[in-house]
Amino acid sequence: MRQLFSYSMLIIAIVFMSGCNQRPQVGFLMDNLTLERWEKDKTLFEEKVKDLGGIVTVRIADSDPDKQLEQARQLIEEGIDVLVVIPVDLEAAGQIVKEAHRSYIPVISYDRLIRNCNLDYYVSTDNIHIGELQADYLSKVSPKGKYALVGGSTADHNAYLLHLGWMNVLQPLIDKGDIEIILDQYTTYWMPDESYSLISDYLDKGGELDAIIAGNDALASGAITALREKNLAGKVLVAGQDADIGAVRSIVAGDQTITIYKPIESMAAAAANAAIKISKGEAPSNMNLTVNNGKRLVPAILLQAQVVNRQNIQMTVVSEGYLEEQAIFE
Ligand code: GAL
Repeated sequence: MRQLFSYSMLIIAIVFMSGCNQRPQVGFLMDNLTLERWEKDKTLFEEKVKDLGGIVTVRIADSDPDKQLEQARQLIEEGIDVLVVIPVDLEAAGQIVKEAHRSYIPVISYDRLIRNCNLDYYVSTDNIHIGELQADYLSKVSPKGKYALVGGSTADHNAYLLHLGWMNVLQPLIDKGDIEIILDQYTTYWMPDESYSLISDYLDKGGELDAIIAGNDALASGAITALREKNLAGKVLVAGQDADIGAVRSIVAGDQTITIYKPIESMAAAAANAAIKISKGEAPSNMNLTVNNGKRLVPAILLQAQVVNRQNIQMTVVSEGYLEEQAIFE
């Protein structure tokens, strides 16, 4: 009898302990890894979740929204506790949220907002403000002139937020007749060849240009290639975003005016912290505002970005450990 009692106590203890030891399982669905910055997001997010005692499973959708939904289904099936998503498509990803919720799995939208669904949380940078920073900087340097706006992907909510930011700053100058928008286009993939075609087509037709505001550094670099072919690199202002090493080198060379440095380490840490808390059934901290995603007010963290220009490279991306000084100036 006594033996039976201690045997059952042992089983209870094992079951209890294995329950306690269960590490939070976090699914991280990424759009693609074609741009440098996403490698950083991936590494930082994985490290932070591990530090906090969780396990991350990463899936890359290669810019395919159907593939991303399939990957979400697999992770849901595998029994993850929480899903963090960089949506390929702002609307289509709503289905991921729906299906995750059927299995009681909460979803955090990372960097890009998932629209028109019951999204649980959103961790990003203030993208309207990023657009304002870009437009503000260039329009201070060149308060008059012809501007080209090369926007991000139409499948990405950030592209629209950036555009809002640009227009917040530029509209009064357009109304005054000081600035003329000679090109205003979104793209499909945020990639250099798209902006290259837009800018070189315009220049081929004999168009004049004073400034280009690009949604990210990949688009900025395509625009710079087009300018270079016409001997205009360094003569036309160019703003980008992401603080890619190539962009920062272009700033040093004088071909790009500014880029935007997003606090990726803090963003990845905030998302990882929230994911671990949620998976333990606790409320995430610092979700101190809400963002309307078309369906609900989503609790959110929006961090602040910084302008990187030729003068402050050391004080921004280098001192924050984002880029190696040697790699920039080699
Ligand atoms: C956006 C993001 C940008 C850029 C782009 C391309 O959502 O805001 O920083 O990286 O995606 O992947």
